[in-house]
Amino acid sequence: MKLGFGSDHAGYELKEILLKYLEEKGFECVDYGTHSLDRVDYPDYGKIVGEKVAAGEVDRGVLICGTGIGISLAANKVRGVRAAVCSEPYSARMTVRHNNANIIAMGSRVVGEDLAKMIVDTFLEEKFEGGRHGMRVDKISAIEEEYFK
Ligand code: RB5
Repeated sequence: MKLGFGSDHAGYELKEILLKYLEEKGFECVDYGTHSLDRVDYPDYGKIVGEKVAAGEVDRGVLICGTGIGISLAANKVRGVRAAVCSEPYSARMTVRHNNANIIAMGSRVVGEDLAKMIVDTFLEEKFEGGRHGMRVDKISAIEEEYFK
């Protein structure tokens, strides 16, 4: 599985840790920045990772900012992106099973390193269940079609 990573300055250190962790586990990882602790704007990184996931250039995305919220909001503006902010593994599990989430977002000021690893591990081992959940995700796509012309 090929993964795309993005963060702002607040998420930079955790992004580096997770990228190295997942590379060591055998995932192919692409780093879309940021590449330092210099102050940047989280929408730029949510957008680029969202675009890469939506285009199929990477299979799933991992986004980190201070809370995980701002960067996920930006990614979710890209058609086809379903980015979920998770602070514990249960939500990470269910958002793949039921929402077919294709990006996980976390807050570096919310979760610690070990918890973040557990969350991302869970996100990557899960599969979408489809069925009635597929019909509901289709309704999310229909909202996109209605409002993102
Ligand atoms: C940066 O200070 C912070 O606002 C950002 O990382 C994020 O938490 C926004 O949602």
